[in-house]
Amino acid sequence: MQSKLVYIETYGCQMNEYDSDRIRNAVGGMPVDTPEEADIVIVNTCAIRDKADQKAFSGLGKYKHLKARKPDMILGVAGCVAQLYGDRLLQKIPHLDFVLGPRAIPRLPDLISRIEQAKERPVETSYDVEELFEVEPYHREGKVTAFVSVQQGCNKKCSYCIVPYVRGDEVNRPLPEILREAENLVGKGVREITFVGQTVNSWTENGRKFGDLLRAAADIDGLERIRFTTSYPRDITKRMIDAMKDVDKVCRHIHLPVQSGSNRVLALMKRTYTREWFSDTVKRLKDAVPDLAISTDIIVGYPGETDRDFEDTMDLMREVEFESSFSFKFSPRPGTPAAGLPKEETVPDETAGARLMELQAFQKEVTLRKNVERVGKTEEVLVEGPSKHGPESVSGRTSHNRIANFKGPASLVGSVVRVRVSEGLSNSIRGELSV
Ligand code: SAH
Ligand code: F3S
Repeated sequence: MQSKLVYIETYGCQMNEYDSDRIRNAVGGMPVDTPEEADIVIVNTCAIRDKADQKAFSGLGKYKHLKARKPDMILGVAGCVAQLYGDRLLQKIPHLDFVLGPRAIPRLPDLISRIEQAKERPVETSYDVEELFEVEPYHREGKVTAFVSVQQGCNKKCSYCIVPYVRGDEVNRPLPEILREAENLVGKGVREITFVGQTVNSWTENGRKFGDLLRAAADIDGLERIRFTTSYPRDITKRMIDAMKDVDKVCRHIHLPVQSGSNRVLALMKRTYTREWFSDTVKRLKDAVPDLAISTDIIVGYPGETDRDFEDTMDLMREVEFESSFSFKFSPRPGTPAAGLPKEETVPDETAGARLMELQAFQKEVTLRKNVERVGKTEEVLVEGPSKHGPESVSGRTSHNRIANFKGPASLVGSVVRVRVSEGLSNSIRGELSV
């Protein structure tokens, strides 16, 4: 069979990027750069906020004309919006051929043959797909970083979040499978693996815990660096902190979403920790791993959030001084408890917008200051590819997950080199190769 040309448009988180690479392999296709040349076009969607949802619909809408010109082209929707709306998408979008939920990716070949042979418009959103982790991701030749999924779904049920409804309960992947996938990738030239899971550090299997996974991965020859995302604060254990401290390959960065600095709001969100507990966890991490960079996620304007609550969040931001943060206005998601709260609780959009601006302005200052403070220091950088900042320049990331650009030959791609920081910018650093 001639291999199919596949074009995938990806929205959302790292898990979706990873899933898009699995979809590429599941259809056994050849990736192409434009939808015009493709036999199969798939939009892999995100449902985390209302805006993401809208993007998915406009993403699909724009293929109407292409499909009219190329009726044999197969157009599908995958990801969280596919799971959320299921067959309603087929009614709403007449030029759509199939709907595929995030857990059903291994069923994709079957779906494609049902379309080609039986002219069906299949919807596959079941959760109990036994082969859940079976399809490994496509890997682009020459890429030195890769994701490896260690977990699907989420068991936490934060009151605002749609993830548990569209990705199901937490299922952890067996350790041997994780290691086999990582080893294969290293064999293809990968030097840095990022373990991904919605609450990656809650991973457990046969009595083993996340810290044991970090240690086991560190034994892979040829693997230089290990990252992981996203950590759930309550699941930070001593065993995990000890592994971060002992294992040199583990990068000095953790993404640790706090969501709010107000105990009242944290309780409403069902986050299971207090601000004091979070601060103490940050301290334990920093005591064990000096120079650890911590980034976070914040939601402003959760229903009922007062000025005082927001002030508590700003206070926490000032106390911790996160390396970077992703902040969002609360967006009600269908079926989540927070979407059903009384209208009176809604924070006016202008108020939420003003809070978001204040928080982001503060973060911008801190991030810039932290980058400037690195000037004169030497950082280890894994070179990932050519830099956009001039000829003979390369780009990579520091252990702290900062982008670094510096002069150097393309032959450095895949090596960890030492870079002396000469300039700190708002989102990156510049430097010189040091020997
Ligand atoms: N554990 C996940 C978190 C998924 S959502 C992960 O791997 O990233 C990413 C972030 O989106 C959350 O940390 C939260 O800050 C934000 N978010 C989730 N639901 C939201 C909602 N309904 N409105 C606004 N932001 C939301
Ligand atoms: Fe969402 Fe909370 Fe899980 S933010 S992904 S329900 S940890």
